[in-house]
Amino acid sequence: MEKPLLRRNVSLLPYNTFGVDVTAEYFATVHAPGDLYALKDAGATAEHAPLIIGKGSNILFTGNVHGLVLHNRIEGIRLIEKTGDAVILETGSGVEWDRFAGYCAGHRYYGAENLSLIPGTAGAAAVQNIGAYGAEAADIILSVTGVDLHTGEKRSFANRDCRFGYRYSLFKMPAFRSFFITSIRFRLSLHPRLNLSYPQLAEETEHIPHPDILDVREAVMRIRRIKLPDPGQTGNAGSFFKNPVVSKEKRDKLLVDYPDMPWHALPGEGFKIPAAWMIEKCGWKGKQSGPCATWSRQPLVIVNLGQANGKEILAFSRAIQKSVYERFAVLLEPEVLIL
Ligand code: EPU
Repeated sequence: MEKPLLRRNVSLLPYNTFGVDVTAEYFATVHAPGDLYALKDAGATAEHAPLIIGKGSNILFTGNVHGLVLHNRIEGIRLIEKTGDAVILETGSGVEWDRFAGYCAGHRYYGAENLSLIPGTAGAAAVQNIGAYGAEAADIILSVTGVDLHTGEKRSFANRDCRFGYRYSLFKMPAFRSFFITSIRFRLSLHPRLNLSYPQLAEETEHIPHPDILDVREAVMRIRRIKLPDPGQTGNAGSFFKNPVVSKEKRDKLLVDYPDMPWHALPGEGFKIPAAWMIEKCGWKGKQSGPCATWSRQPLVIVNLGQANGKEILAFSRAIQKSVYERFAVLLEPEVLIL
């Protein structure tokens, strides 16, 4: 096996979808779990705090990275087991998420189709518990395996131990910063089980008499292409903020002043309010400030119109946060990892 190359002062411009030009002090590409052991044995992971990145589609770099960036390129989708009603697949954590979603839809393995076209890797999908159109990665993840870069220990976590929540998992905790996810197992249904409950998706598929999995994948892709900027063309990292979850009291209070406010009751307790609605109400929809703007069709997405640096994008996001707080007394929490 070839030793992974440790490079110095590498531009991260090709490695973040915001299109921010910063450098990494050290940089290495990881193609297989063995590369991690080689880096560890060479002392690289102990010397420099590692930062693990996939497609860099949920990161805002506000300055150069002092330390080691590990770029995940662990590929491969393997069929582990097929039972009467389900299939278990294992993917390398560096597999592009949408390649996996497309693979599942193409084989008629049900469960990933609503998550079509989400940028990023399978590894990031687990860390982030990506979600869209009434589905989330946690619904289909069976287990997550990785390597602790400090100890070299390989560990696997069953779904119930991953503490999945709304855009949250165990792997977001500081203690897991040096845990490199190498593979993920997914359980997908062999029985047609489509989830068209999300209003926009229901609308997009209502003209199809008997939609199948490929229709759903295409509908999701259509909606995303219409509403969201393509990171290949316009720098962005998807939703910049999470949708805030408020108490019943707070929701009722807001409804007095804003009877048209949309809300969504969560299964446990709490009510999710669309941050996009609040941002729009504050007049930020499609608004530009220097090289930063909110996307005209989805103001939850901040875009880099050209040469914005991370600090400018961060300042722009803080101005939005401030407006929303002043108007609604709700603090929007960034969904993007700010470094
Ligand atoms: N809305 C507005 N104005 C707008 C757009 C939306 O008021 O310009 C309100 C509407 O009430 C709309 C509601 O926001 O019904 C929800 O909008 P949308 O369906 O676009 O979803 P979202 O809540 O803004 C979330 C995820 C997206 C995911 C979509 C679809 C978060 C932070 N974002 O956005 O995920 O694609 O749902 O399920 O939960 C991402 O995480 O990067 C991401 C793009």
